[in-house]
Parts: sequence; structure tokens; C-alpha cells
Amino acid sequence: MSCSCIWFSKICFLLSVIFCAILLLLIPKFQANWRPRSYPQPHPPSVFSASNKSEVQSQQAESNSVDNLNDETNNIVPFVKEELIQEWTPHVIDTGRSSLKANSKMNESPSNPWYNRVNHVGPDNISAKEKLELKDIFIAVKTTRKYHKTRLNLLFQTWISQAQGQTFIFTDWEDPELRHRAGDHMINTNCSAVHTRQALCCKMSVEYDKFLESGQKWFCHMDDDNYVNLRNLLHLLSAFSHSQDVYVGRPSLDHPIEAADHVRNDGSTTVKFWFATGGAGFCISRGLALKMSPWASLGSFISTAERIRLPDDCTIGYIIEGLLEVKLHHSPLFHSHLENLQRLRGEAVFKQVTLSYGGPENKHNVVSVEEMFNVQQDPTRFRSVHCLLYPDTAWCPTVTVK
Ligand SMILES: *[C@@H]1O[C@H](CO)[C@@H](O)[C@H](O)[C@H]1NC(C)=O
Ligand SMILES: *[C@@H]1O[C@H](CO)[C@@H](O)[C@H](O)[C@H]1NC(C)=O
Ligand SMILES: *[C@@H]1O[C@H](CO)[C@@H](O)[C@H](O)[C@H]1NC(C)=O
Repeated sequence: MSCSCIWFSKICFLLSVIFCAILLLLIPKFQANWRPRSYPQPHPPSVFSASNKSEVQSQQAESNSVDNLNDETNNIVPFVKEELIQEWTPHVIDTGRSSLKANSKMNESPSNPWYNRVNHVGPDNISAKEKLELKDIFIAVKTTRKYHKTRLNLLFQTWISQAQGQTFIFTDWEDPELRHRAGDHMINTNCSAVHTRQALCCKMSVEYDKFLESGQKWFCHMDDDNYVNLRNLLHLLSAFSHSQDVYVGRPSLDHPIEAADHVRNDGSTTVKFWFATGGAGFCISRGLALKMSPWASLGSFISTAERIRLPDDCTIGYIIEGLLEVKLHHSPLFHSHLENLQRLRGEAVFKQVTLSYGGPENKHNVVSVEEMFNVQQDPTRFRSVHCLLYPDTAWCPTVTVK
């Protein structure tokens, strides 16, 4: 009797131990399910990825890298240039400077009150509004005398070689060598070569006028440290119609900026608006560009910027969101050197519209790609990216199939 009782309690004990063990094992699963989802990431069709071999190989790896992006890169609030902040400070009422760096996770979560007001776009949401070709896009690259030999040469060697017909270089010096290379696609803006708000606005103003003159469907502004993935750019823009009001790019802050409105009144009221950071590149449809003309064409861009005392890219945002009340389409596919670019790795690198690199003061801030060239040969990683996208390029190493 007592013997079977002992057996019974032993079995009871064993069963409860097993039950506890199973519970412990299940906890991480539940936690995973409880994790709040951020908004879905764009998955462009595979035609737009560089190497389709590795794609088939590892769906897992791909979704991992996309998830990483989701958690980190896309939510990253880029470090804001200190000089920019200083410039804004007198004009920004809701400075929220501490929230520039903290709070980044809030940015794209549905609990953020701005979440529902902004339009998130990616190549996933394609309604193929129009058949767009590369020749319909006007790509303006802003540069300066100092970077003709270095930054610009790299771009000519890489992506510009695939888009010579639609790329225009806006600079501040009549460089005979560059003139020889680019012909009338080099535009000497006659703007000052100093890196001030006025000089930058002067160049933007010329870019805008040249675009209107060109008659092309889309205006895309790029910096001389951007790699443009032309296929992805084309794919992104074909989701829209150029006759509609479209302004697409990456916001540089996680909140709209607020500035005293010196254009519509004496500055007694304020205006809140988002703007796409110029360093990551942005695009504007012709339809919208035409509407901007009272504040942007034939030099009026410079006076608009002077009145609100904001940098060139902010002024674009001010005219579009603040004055025309057209919303910026927030896209995580544009990247500037102010972000942590190392978080872009693997297949994700080839899904972006623009890339950038950290420059001499931040050498390690580059995207992570397969070693086509080592870091000494290709410190910006642009040459490696280009060879993976266009393996037939003459100077690219021939890939040995594993
Ligand atoms: C994959 O690569 C092959 C040759 O490299 C090409 O013919 C094919 O179109 C590619 N497929 C996709 C989906 O990119
Ligand atoms: C695509 O955009 C439309 C609005 O333009 C929206 O209603 C729809 O939900 C979006 N689809 C996806 C898959 O995001
Ligand atoms: C800059 O100056 C040159 C010489 O005066 C002129 O030919 C050129 O059109 C000017 N550029 C712009 C964008 O006005």
C-alpha cells in the first residue's frame, strides 16, 4: 500500500518537473510573439537584386538582414550636424533636441502620432502608374571644386557610367578636365565654393531651374557621396505618376521641424513640416516642381531660403509641406553619410535606392558587401557594390563560381 503511494508521489513529482521544463522552453516563444511588429518592409522583386544565386540559397539570411534593418537602420535617427542644429536653434520652437538621439524607436511605430499622417512608401506598393524609363529622370549631382578629382571620379567610374544621359553635375568651378568629361552635363553654377547655407541654396536654385528647362518627368537631387542604384530608383518612381504631387526621400529627423513663418507673414506664426535630407538624395515629380515655381524658380529659391533662414533641403521641405501642403513620402531606401551604414549588409545593400559612406573622418562607416575589392582598394565600397550590380564592367574582377 505505502509502496504504491510512494511510487505515485514519485511519478507526480516527475510529471511536474517535466511540465515546468516544457513551460520554461515555451517562454521565449511567447516572448517572440509578443514583440510588437513594426511596419512591413518593402521587398522589391528579385529582378532588382544583384545576384540571384545567393537569394535562392538563403531566404533565411535575407529575412534576417531585413529584420535587422527594421530594428536598426530604418529607425536610426541620423546624427544631426551640429552646425545644422545651431543654425536651426533660433528658428525652431519645438527643438526636442534630446529626442533627436533618443526615442528613435518611436519613429516608425504605430504609437507615434505622426505614424498615420505620413505616407510610407517602398517598392512593394507598386501600382505601375506609368511606364518610366531612365531618360525620364533628371539626376542632379551637387559637388564642389574640392571633390572633382576624388568623389566625382568615383561616381563617374561607377553609377554615372550607366546614366550619363540624365546626370548633370552642379559645381562651382570651370574645371577643364571635368568639362571635357561631362560636356554640357557639367553646370558651373557660379555659386560660391564655401559650404554655407547661401552657397548651397544657390546651387539648389540652379538645379531646380535646369530641371524645369529639361522637360524631364522627375527631378532627383543627389550629393557627390551617394551611390545611386538606378534600377531601384526607376522602380520606386514608377509607382507614382510624374504629373501628381510627389516628394519622396528620407526624413533626417524623427519629427517635423517647426519654423517661424517669415514667408506668409512676419514670422508671428509657425509652420511645421517634414523635409527629406539632401545628403541621402530625394526626388520631386514635375507636377509638384511646377507648383513650387513661385518660391523656387529663377532665384526666388534663394530669397525663400533667406527669409526662413534654413538650409537648402529644409527650404525644399518648407515650400512643399509648409506652403503647398503636399506630404513627403517617407522612404527608408535613401541613405546619407550621417547614418550608421554598417548596418546595411548582405542582400539589403542592393535593395536601397541610394547609399553613402562616412568619409575620411569616419572611414569605417560604410556598407558591408562581399569582398570584390578589399578596403584599401575600395574604401567607400562603391566599387564593390557596382561590380556586384554590373559584373560585366571592364574593370571589375571576374567572379569565380564556387
Ligand atoms: C538570374 O541570373 C540569370 C543569369 O545570371 C539571369 O538570366 C536571370 O534572368 C536572373 N534571374 C533573375 C530573377 O534575376
Ligand atoms: C498601397 O498604397 C495604397 C494607397 O496608395 C494603400 O491603400 C495600400 O494599402 C498599400 N498597399 C500596401 C501593400 O502597402
Ligand atoms: C556662369 O557664368 C558663365 C560665364 O559668365 C555663364 O556662361 C554661365 O551661364 C553661368 N552659369 C549659370 C548657371 O548661370
